[in-house]
Amino acid sequence: MIRDVLRMGDPRLLEISKPLERFGTPELFELIRDMQDTMAHLNGAGLAAPQIGVLLRVVIFGVEKNPRYPDAEEVPFTILCNPELTPLSDEMEDGWEGCLSVPGMRGVVPRYKRLRYAGFDPHGTRIEREVSDFHARVVQHECDHLDGMLYPMRIRDFRKFGFTEALFPGEEIADD
Ligand code: NI
Repeated sequence: MIRDVLRMGDPRLLEISKPLERFGTPELFELIRDMQDTMAHLNGAGLAAPQIGVLLRVVIFGVEKNPRYPDAEEVPFTILCNPELTPLSDEMEDGWEGCLSVPGMRGVVPRYKRLRYAGFDPHGTRIEREVSDFHARVVQHECDHLDGMLYPMRIRDFRKFGFTEALFPGEEIADD
């Protein structure tokens, strides 16, 4: 079921979400199905459970060829519960981001370039990956939602923050 996505300003987006305690339950599969339906409907690169008002540490992400990120590399579709992120170096990289909770806008955000992430799939099977660049950026963005952090809170140069249509006139980029 497609769910409403909370928008920046809703206090639930600022909460610290709770760890998922039970894997493989019908409730979890229903949550993930709703998240997938919602992300696909809005053409998003990722979605965190708190964005649909469920304060659990569950994120999904994945990019095939997405008009939101025309130059972005592919990211395999992943469901990640109770994620833990470990940067593999101090190196940061700037890149454009958008968010379904901040529709119609884009901003440049610094993120760790390389990191290891670990967590569990919905059945409780361990996932562990080392990633870089756009894949690393997407994971950092989604996991930030679990700690009440939205990408505008990480922007350093507000000259590089604005409405997508004004920033990229004439380019075909989804509007949220
Ligand atoms: Ni987001």
